[in-house]
Amino acid sequence: MSDALDSLLSEMQVYYTWNYKSVSSSLNSLYEKGKKEQWNSSQALDWKLDVDPENLEKFPETSAILYGSDIWQRMNKKEQTECVYENTAWRLSNFLHGEQGALLSTAQLVVCVPFIEAKFYGATQVMDEGRHVEVFHRYLHEKVGTDYPVNKDLKALLDLILKDGRWDLKYLGMQIIIEGLALASIRVLRSIYKEPLLDNLLRLIMQDEARHVAFGLISLGDFYKQLSENERREREDFAYEACILMRDRLDGREMWEKLGLPVKECIEHNNNSIIMREFRQILFSHIIPNLKKLNLLSERIRPRYEEMGVLVFENNLSSEQEIASSNVIN
Ligand SMILES: [Fe+2]
Ligand SMILES: [Fe+2]
Repeated sequence: MSDALDSLLSEMQVYYTWNYKSVSSSLNSLYEKGKKEQWNSSQALDWKLDVDPENLEKFPETSAILYGSDIWQRMNKKEQTECVYENTAWRLSNFLHGEQGALLSTAQLVVCVPFIEAKFYGATQVMDEGRHVEVFHRYLHEKVGTDYPVNKDLKALLDLILKDGRWDLKYLGMQIIIEGLALASIRVLRSIYKEPLLDNLLRLIMQDEARHVAFGLISLGDFYKQLSENERREREDFAYEACILMRDRLDGREMWEKLGLPVKECIEHNNNSIIMREFRQILFSHIIPNLKKLNLLSERIRPRYEEMGVLVFENNLSSEQEIASSNVIN
């Protein structure tokens, strides 16, 4: 088997839905929206545009995690530019691998979710995720010119989601946590990067991702209302652990090693600088209101999120409300 291939065993219940009866009008509207908003990546994006990933006007220094740190001050201009460049490649690679996880887990959802309208909507999402993998890969290879392997914490979470046979945990891990984080992260990246092709690509992806998070929220809403207390706690713990894994994957270790920088000092800056702390907190701005909506933010778990400094987002609009008011895309 080639090194590029990696496999795991996954067992799940396969649901046919022979009566084709749909019960959720919200999911049906989302399905209509999903069909209407399909885009063709070869035509919607101008791939002929020249991109120079070392142009600091388009890929500003402020996009580098180390910007402003002591290590940054010690670098010459060439090293700083290299740092910005690697940061771009590292970030987009994480998106690429996360998108592949989304493609696989959504394909599983179509199989194991027990209601027809979720299978319909899931089918549109499989198409969306395929397109996302395609465009991130194409941008990285045609325009950036380097990439990073999948980060181990991201891989651990993807494995967990793909192996678990319970359909609701696939939704919770992928649609609520990973996609919620991706949505917030894309929003921040769009405010930093000034490269038109990347901005357009992220804008189109963001439009799709907003629907995906709403899909999770709508599908889980009623199901989570009838869980036993034990089952509910288990979901609450799963969501928290997933958040921690996702937060810790952002330490950039692979990048510091490749750049030959002092790894410990770089991680220290990443973990403790005010700007990075704020950045990490913003990443949870979509997840927290959605967890609250799903009743997964009980008094028992709140202190742990409080410690992460992310409870300030609990009264933000949930993704369902955002998409209803079309507030997500700008
Ligand atoms: Fe995606
Ligand atoms: Fe997605």
